[in-house]
Amino acid sequence: MKLPQTQLVRARMKSQATALALVISFGLTILGPGLGLAGEVDLSKVPAAADKKGVTYEKDIRPLFEQSCFKCHGPEKPKGRLRLDSLESALQGGKDGKIIEKGNSAKSLIVRLTARLDEDEAMPPKDKGKPLTREQVGLIRAWIDQGAK
Ligand code: HEC
Repeated sequence: MKLPQTQLVRARMKSQATALALVISFGLTILGPGLGLAGEVDLSKVPAAADKKGVTYEKDIRPLFEQSCFKCHGPEKPKGRLRLDSLESALQGGKDGKIIEKGNSAKSLIVRLTARLDEDEAMPPKDKGKPLTREQVGLIRAWIDQGAK
């Protein structure tokens, strides 16, 4: 028996909707992490936090930022509206909000960017400065995990 016309149309629309939903969810799975929709960093690819105790901005982190980041994230026309030249401004974050989640380096944007999981969003930008070493990223992680003091 042939299906009545309306039923056929409905069946076809349903399968198209299913296909569309599949394409969208597939797209999100592939693109989501790249777009920064996933807050967590893939820890298997990020250097471990340094063992060092008592890591502070003034003693350990500022000199590192000064060497690698101040050029673009200092007081003058800071890129991404992010200044890294004081603890307060670093904690305040940039145009997209906080870059540091105190006590949780894995959730901190600054770790994802400096660990260069994605060269397109990495800091310093590709060919615009020397990448941080694994030790330096580990030091930033330890600092954040210890409360970003
Ligand atoms: C040569 C210039 C340059 C250097 C050096 C540089 N950055 Fe950036 N940074 C940028 C630009 C440009 C943006 C804005 C990118 C955008 O608009 O998405 C940015 C954005 C950021 C952001 C995101 C801010 C936000 O709210 O979106 C973070 C975090 C960041 N930089 C961290 C660093 C750190 C840490 C260093 C040093 C290790 C560094 N950057 C070195 C140019 C630089």
